[in-house]
Amino acid sequence: MSTDDSAVEMRQPPEAIRSREGQLDPFEWYAKMRQEAPVHFDEQRQTWDVFRYDDAKRVLNDHDAFTADRGQAAVDSATSTEDDGGTILETMIGVDPPEHERLRGFVNERFQPGSIRDYRSRIAELTDELTAQIEGDGQFDFVDEFAVPLPVIVIAELLGIPSERREQFKDWSDSLIARPDNTSASVERVQRQREQARKEMGEYFAELLEDRRTGDGDDLITLAATTEELSTEERIGFCMLLLLAGNITTTNLLTNAVWCFEEQGLMDAIRTGEIDRKNAIEEVLRYRSPVQSVRRIAAEDVELNGHHIQSGAIVTVWLGSANRDPEVFDAPESFRPERKPNRHVSFGSGVHYCLGAPLARLEADVALEGLFDRFDRIEVDRTDLRPLRSLYGLRSLPCEATPKTQS
Ligand code: HEM
Repeated sequence: MSTDDSAVEMRQPPEAIRSREGQLDPFEWYAKMRQEAPVHFDEQRQTWDVFRYDDAKRVLNDHDAFTADRGQAAVDSATSTEDDGGTILETMIGVDPPEHERLRGFVNERFQPGSIRDYRSRIAELTDELTAQIEGDGQFDFVDEFAVPLPVIVIAELLGIPSERREQFKDWSDSLIARPDNTSASVERVQRQREQARKEMGEYFAELLEDRRTGDGDDLITLAATTEELSTEERIGFCMLLLLAGNITTTNLLTNAVWCFEEQGLMDAIRTGEIDRKNAIEEVLRYRSPVQSVRRIAAEDVELNGHHIQSGAIVTVWLGSANRDPEVFDAPESFRPERKPNRHVSFGSGVHYCLGAPLARLEADVALEGLFDRFDRIEVDRTDLRPLRSLYGLRSLPCEATPKTQS
């Protein structure tokens, strides 16, 4: 394999799930691997793959042995933040304790469920605006017209980005998380676009941060701008991380929720409240998690479930497989919206546990409530599902909705 080829391979999904069908349904492969080779080295991608729940938790919680300290670790390529010179911008997701605490500590409070709760009515308002636009003939693409715009607007508002720049942000974040197909030309093209987007976005954030150095607004850019412990690069990295991590992940939680509910024939039960919506959302997270894998690097020679992993090796933790481990979940291949407890690892585990988990949960809850409030019936066309390449989700989900009859 030439160097170019191996660079392409490392960015690809494993061969077994590279096809469209495999991307949509990697779960059979996970089951086989959990059974036959729960910790396995993939020569092609030069990475260790970890499939069982306990092993996944061990890797994520043992940050001395498995470091996140590498730009590309983290939520795959989705949150790597390099500036145009190729330097890794330090963000919380790519550093270990104690440095991690400095980069996360200043914002932790803002994302606690108690702080985020205040935002409920604003999310409901935005949901209402988006669903109102759908009402016309009722035909719409759930992804494009609802699941994509809602999280972008929410995170842009929390950051304090002027609304006229939202479209631009969507384009930038799409370029930053784009995945090449398996040719060197595509890798080069995607990398070029990524660098351009990073540069433009970095410059834009740098300007906003500078303007808000003496500000007293309660937006997150002002918070970062006025936090003394951060360097300029770290402030920019923080803004970029939040925008990326909070965006397409939530888009896919919304999409996967509608996909699961319809597939399982649960739309009505969820709409009427017969099935608890919040609980059902947790099951969507377990069953079809937007983030199927995260990466770490072995910081030392380490034993994992009888395997010797050498210092410097890449370790891919399959969250989507851990979530279906029969040692932890009864009937793991069944979608059970009432499942409790539901100890899924879709938001990760350990110090890097998702900062935005309360926000993502709130957004999903309010968005689905709003959707079911406005529409009596939502029909989903699942005849031609096409997987995303970046995260686990769909490129589109054509729907037809019937508005509630006014009494
Ligand atoms: C359904 C939606 C989401 C999913 C499935 C998800 C998933 C994850 C996962 C698996 C991690 C851990 C990564 C690792 O261990 O390497 C993570 C970290 C993170 N997420 Fe999320 N996320 C979601 C939504 C959000 C939102 C809405 C935000 C922000 C507003 C956000 C911000 C972050 C940040 C900042 C981190 C890094 C935390 C740290 O390193 O300490 N996420 N997320």
